[in-house]
Amino acid sequence: MHIISAPKFKSSEITPKADWLNRRQLMIGAGAVATTTFGLPALAKLKTIKSKYSTTRTPNTFKDITTYNNFYEFGTSKSDPAENASRLTTSPWSVTIDGMVDKPGKYAFEDIIKGVSMEERIYRFRCVEAWSMIIPWTGFQLSELLARVGVQSGAKYVSFETLVRPSEMIGQRSNVLEWPYREGLRMDEAMHPLTILAAGIYGEDMPKQNGAPLRLVVPWKYGFKSIKSIVRISLTARQPQATWNMLSPREYGFYSNVNPNVDHPRWTQASERPIGGGLFTRRKQTQMFNGYGQEVAGLYKGMDLTRNF
Ligand code: MTE
Repeated sequence: MHIISAPKFKSSEITPKADWLNRRQLMIGAGAVATTTFGLPALAKLKTIKSKYSTTRTPNTFKDITTYNNFYEFGTSKSDPAENASRLTTSPWSVTIDGMVDKPGKYAFEDIIKGVSMEERIYRFRCVEAWSMIIPWTGFQLSELLARVGVQSGAKYVSFETLVRPSEMIGQRSNVLEWPYREGLRMDEAMHPLTILAAGIYGEDMPKQNGAPLRLVVPWKYGFKSIKSIVRISLTARQPQATWNMLSPREYGFYSNVNPNVDHPRWTQASERPIGGGLFTRRKQTQMFNGYGQEVAGLYKGMDLTRNF
C-alpha cells in the first residue's frame, strides 16, 4: 500500500484480485512496457468497463492524440509535449487532497485508482484554439473520489494544481504562465457524471504528454480546463484561480463552456477543425456545450452565458 498519510479506502472497494490477474496475464502477453513500481502498467491491474456516456463517433488515432496538444510545462508548441515529456518521473506519484474534506491527506496514485469504477469513455474534445478530436479516455468519475474523501457542507468549488518540477518540466524554466498550472470547477460541475479523472488513453497508462498519471477531463468545456498531471485537489468556499483566466480574463472566463455564440476576442468559436482527417477536412459547426447540452445545460439555468463565459 502506498498511502502516505491518510486513512485507507475500504478493502471492499478494491477490485477483485482475479480481475487484475486476468488483465495482468493479458498485458504480459501483449509485451507491455510502461511500468509502475510494481513492474506493470497501473491500469493493467484494473477492470475497465465501457461507459454509457461515450460518443459513437470513431476516435482519433493514438498518434494524433499523443503528438498534437498543449502542455506548456513542456513548451508552447503543439509538438513540444511529445518531444519533451518523456523525462518526467510519474512514479511514485501522490495527490494531496485538502481543504473542506473529511479525510484530507496525501494519497498515492495507486490507491486512488484501486477502488474506482474504471471506464472507457469516448469523449468529444474541443480546444479553445478551435480544433477538435475524439479521445477514448480510461477514467472514473471525479465525484467518486470526492465522495470517498468526504465533501464538507461549506465546499462550493474544487481547485486543481499541476506538478511544479522545472528540472523535468523544461517549459517551467520560463514564466510564460504562472506556475503551478491551476484550474477550478464549481461543485455541481465537479460532481457531474461527465466529469472524470483520466488515467489512460486507449486502455494504456496515460502518456506523459497527455498528463500522466492523472488528469481531469470535462468534455463540455474548452480543453484548457482539463488540467494535467494533477498533484493537488482542494475543496474551497470561494471560486479558485484558473491559469488562463488569471492571465487574460477578457479572453478566458472561469466557466469556459464550449459556446459557438461567444467568440474569443481574436477568433471565431462557431466552427472547429477536426484533427486527423487530412489537409482537406472541412471545418465543423461547433455545438453548444460541445454537444453535451442535454446533460449539462441545466447547470447554468438562469445564467447569462455571454457574461459568464
Ligand atoms: N494542463 C497543464 N498542466 N498544462 C497545460 O499547458 N494545457 C491545456 C490542457 N491541460 C495544459 C493542461 C490545454 S490548452 C489543452 S487544449 C489540453 O490540455 C490539451 O491536451 P490533451 O489533448 O492531452 O487534452
